Amino acid sequence: MSESSVIETSGFDVESIRQQFPILNKPLPNGKSVVYLDTGASAQKPQSVIDKEREVYESYFANAYRGVYYFGAQVDEQLEAAREQIRQFIGARSSSEIIFTSGTTMSINLVANAWGRKFLHPGDEIVINEMEHHANFVPWQQIAAERQATLKFIPLTDDYRLDLSSLVDVITERTKMVALTGMSNVTGAINPVAEVVAKAKQHGAVVLVDGAQSVPHAPTDVNNPEIDFLSFSGHKLYGPTGIGVLYGREELLESMDPFLCGGHMISRVYKDRSEWAASPAKFEAGTIPIAQAIALGAAVDFVAALGFDAIHQHEEKILRYATSELLKVPAMQIYGPSVDDKGAIISFTMEDAHAEDLANLLDIKGVFVRHGHHCTMPLHDLMGVSASVRVSLAVYNNEADIDRLVESLHFARKKLRLA
Ligand code: ALA
Repeated sequence: MSESSVIETSGFDVESIRQQFPILNKPLPNGKSVVYLDTGASAQKPQSVIDKEREVYESYFANAYRGVYYFGAQVDEQLEAAREQIRQFIGARSSSEIIFTSGTTMSINLVANAWGRKFLHPGDEIVINEMEHHANFVPWQQIAAERQATLKFIPLTDDYRLDLSSLVDVITERTKMVALTGMSNVTGAINPVAEVVAKAKQHGAVVLVDGAQSVPHAPTDVNNPEIDFLSFSGHKLYGPTGIGVLYGREELLESMDPFLCGGHMISRVYKDRSEWAASPAKFEAGTIPIAQAIALGAAVDFVAALGFDAIHQHEEKILRYATSELLKVPAMQIYGPSVDDKGAIISFTMEDAHAEDLANLLDIKGVFVRHGHHCTMPLHDLMGVSASVRVSLAVYNNEADIDRLVESLHFARKKLRLA
């Protein structure tokens, strides 16, 4: 590992960041140290997030928005503080636009159902594309079928980016919704959200951005460009599992009916009908993941304290190093755009090696990667493979991790009798 990766010129001290993640500093049962390269699936948690979740259960846990006693009041205060932190983090105008959900999947399903059922009509068009994660694909297929709407696709280029020259044909006056990811969970391609928003707004279409991969790695401002819905997950943002966010523009949320019904989301229930609470309560039926939502505030603090300039500089540096080192491994094919147009994700295949075999052999060496279709079967169909190996990077990865990955790939090639 080069010395520059330990203390970077930007002041980004990756070693001190690694110290904040207990799981990265414990040997594995086989005695190896862990090389965690699967943050795209879920990020590891810093001590501050672990401590915050513990603090809730050890110091003031109660149900939320129900009890006037001390614990209940503490929980409500902490939850609203976390909601406010998230509002600021994504530049929303009001905390009523921040809805706690169980994660990105629930956030998108909420929009597809609550917005789609009310506002989609036969003949309307929903625009997606083949790089989308199934969570931003299948809900649109389903609601399109239910509402007799048409699902349309922005074509992809040869390097699996949105083909912007096709926007004019695909997004038309019939388009009611454009849903796209901020960053591909397979190729790392960063989508030109501003261009797509501009085209969608020309036709009055609503735009949903799936920020599951982009929000943890790049600054997000829901008002620049002006998007209508943003979904993201806590667990990919160094926060707990089971908690995510749906941002929705206030006027849209006001016009929508709830998706799930139950406690806390009503203002009045009669025997024959109910009236809804205002957002966000209208969309937060039942008991929300309380400790997880509060600890998501600590995760936002963690990321904000590092700052996206430093995060980007560091992740890009590791991404460039990883790309150049991986390309030296024989029979390697990396999918997607060049490093200049992507975030810190690399998916690859190796000729004559099955992705699952590679992942298993890397695991023996303590190197953890994801293999398979990564919940993007249509994209893998385009790539012409059923599975790939994915390396996804984060603030705690360093060049030594990449060196271990490459050594382990050479080990895998030997085991598979490719070398
Ligand atoms: N959506 C997560 C991934 O891409 C689970 O791995």
